[in-house]
Amino acid sequence: MPADSARPFQPVKMQQIRQVVASEFDAVNDFIIDQLHSNVPLVENIGHYIVDAGGKRLRPLLSLLSAGTIGEITQHHIKLASVIEFIHTATLLHDDVVDLSDLRRGRPTANANWGNAPSVLVGDFLYSRAFQILVDIGNMPLMGLLSSTTNTVAEGEVLQLTRAGQADTDEATYYSVIRSKTAVLFAAACSGAAILSNQNDATRSALHSYGMNLGIAFQLVDDVLDYAGNPEETGKNIGDDLAEGKPTLPLIFVMQNGKPSDADRVRQAITEKSAAHLDSIVTAVADSGALQYCRDAAQTYSNAAIAAISELKDNHYKSALTALADIALGRNS
Ligand code: IPE
Ligand code: IPE
Ligand code: MG
Ligand code: MG
Repeated sequence: MPADSARPFQPVKMQQIRQVVASEFDAVNDFIIDQLHSNVPLVENIGHYIVDAGGKRLRPLLSLLSAGTIGEITQHHIKLASVIEFIHTATLLHDDVVDLSDLRRGRPTANANWGNAPSVLVGDFLYSRAFQILVDIGNMPLMGLLSSTTNTVAEGEVLQLTRAGQADTDEATYYSVIRSKTAVLFAAACSGAAILSNQNDATRSALHSYGMNLGIAFQLVDDVLDYAGNPEETGKNIGDDLAEGKPTLPLIFVMQNGKPSDADRVRQAITEKSAAHLDSIVTAVADSGALQYCRDAAQTYSNAAIAAISELKDNHYKSALTALADIALGRNS
């Protein structure tokens, strides 16, 4: 059983959405496997380990559906979708080192199995493989988009690092982190498809805005799941963010609106980068209304994503993008 069907992301609805681009989706998966080749066995071992574990392949799906919404889905779109997944996978390898995470996609992380150095280096391999494929596509505006996107993702991770342990982090800074580390790659997955299809600025920016807003909603839900998820479903541990002292929105809400004793406990946990009081903080997050606050925010961004593509012509690809923005909210993995 593939790992992602073992950890469903609203499986029936996701399956229906993937069906819309079934053959192209399979082609992306084949291309990704094909492009993992290396003469160094450890590169292939770690590459296959994380890729074969599945993952939702949400970002490549966005590229394919964006392409279908505006025209024909070409071989270049299939390569773009693979590039986006390679970049995403590289960020996961690096992110798990930085976040000291030991569970990903329902398996021990690569850093837990092989150590930090191989994870960082294979992450670099995946990044550079992504750019090799881009050179093969040979579209300079797309290259420009993805080089600046990757640069912004790296900046976002560094900004987040500088805020770890900082309990005074405000909402604006939180949103700045998640825009950079997560949402810009969603945006590039969508607007990159428009670049390849030679679309005008209005169409590119509609898809870019769809991706940005969906990416923000997606990370908001991810940050909720770090306190309210089930590791059996998310494939990740609960409380990783707390152990890293990450001031994510659920905690910012408790510090600003929770009972004073809860707010103090959260402040202390962030400052000390400690998950020692995880259980009581999970309870405080739930009791304070923080989860609903974050889910409402995610709903607002999801609505904005759907609105952003309202002027594009209706077809079943666009309906699938709309459905995705909706089910991303209710996801539990
Ligand atoms: C995890 O992304 C990293 C975030 C931006 C939250 P996904 O939840 O899409 O991870 P996979 O690819 O499905 O494992
Ligand atoms: C995702 O943030 C950041 C990137 C992958 C760039 P998280 O640190 O919240 O992602 P997970 O929860 O480890 O997947
Ligand atoms: Mg992480
Ligand atoms: Mg997370």
